[in-house]
Amino acid sequence: MSSKHEPHEGPVDGPDLRAEGLRLAYDDRVVVEGLDVAIPSGRITAIVGANACGKSTLLRALARLLTPRSGAVYLDGRSVHSIPTRALAQRLGILPQTPVAPEGLTVVDLVGRGRSPHQTWWRQWSAADEQAVHEALRATAMTDLAHRAVDELSGGQRQRAWIAMAVAQGTPVMLLDEPTTYLDLAHQIDVLDLITDLNRHQGRTVVMVLHDLNQACRYADHVVAMKAGRVVGEGAPAEVVTAAMVEEVFGLRCVVGDDPVSRTPMVIPMGRHHESPDAPAAVAVPGPHG
Ligand SMILES: Nc1ncnc2c1ncn2[C@@H]1O[C@H](COP(=O)(O)OP(=O)(O)OP(=O)(O)O)[C@@H](O)[C@H]1O
Ligand SMILES: [Mg+2]
Repeated sequence: MSSKHEPHEGPVDGPDLRAEGLRLAYDDRVVVEGLDVAIPSGRITAIVGANACGKSTLLRALARLLTPRSGAVYLDGRSVHSIPTRALAQRLGILPQTPVAPEGLTVVDLVGRGRSPHQTWWRQWSAADEQAVHEALRATAMTDLAHRAVDELSGGQRQRAWIAMAVAQGTPVMLLDEPTTYLDLAHQIDVLDLITDLNRHQGRTVVMVLHDLNQACRYADHVVAMKAGRVVGEGAPAEVVTAAMVEEVFGLRCVVGDDPVSRTPMVIPMGRHHESPDAPAAVAVPGPHG
């Protein structure tokens, strides 16, 4: 059995992040409508859904990067729009889907920027900041690349540099938009294991957008499935990730099995050229010769 439901070592009174009645739009195009969501505190939540269904838009709204047309996002009972910027950045960090670093910025300087919410004119760069940067570089296996320019890295190295920045920021809430994009399979698992460590050992609340449903089932305690700007399912992976949900959300037929390693749902897609051996025989369609 997976050990992911073991008690977390983090604080019991973790952050309370929720959205109520969200309506999100770009100009006059409404992308998210009537959306309510409560993020379980001290847990890992995965948001899944088809391209363009509004996952990144929702994440950006949770991080106050986008102002709702109606409804609101609340962190610990306060509308995020009423929280001063620095205070919010100390509580909540976001890794956007396609972050862009200033030209020539080195990895260590990028990661160091994650510490800026912790600095003030009376409290400049400290040993704690140094330690946080060092730890984040080590945890993401970026130490050897620390002095390279971010814009000269490979896609996967660059992604890890941004993850290191989010780790160094040290916020109780981390919002990660497709953190495994560009990563090879081993580095995907490294990053997801790292996120699990941050959750288990530091009690961080994580919300991540993932396209890999099997990884979502393995690594998340809570899955939110979105379709066309609405939540169509939420709950434990085994409740949410079913063949019916995959068909509804992605229009994809699949078989849902049992992941032999983690004992969580494992989605095996069918597509047009494959059938499940258990499925009823397809009705034969006459070919051009009969
Ligand atoms: N800055 C923008 N201006 C206008 N429209 C946008 C903008 N960003 C996103 N959209 C539109 O909003 C809709 C939702 O986009 P969003 O990026 O939230 O989707 P997503 O679920 O994250 O998709 P993906 O899986 O491809 O990342 C899409 O139709 C997209 O074209
Ligand atoms: Mg997106």
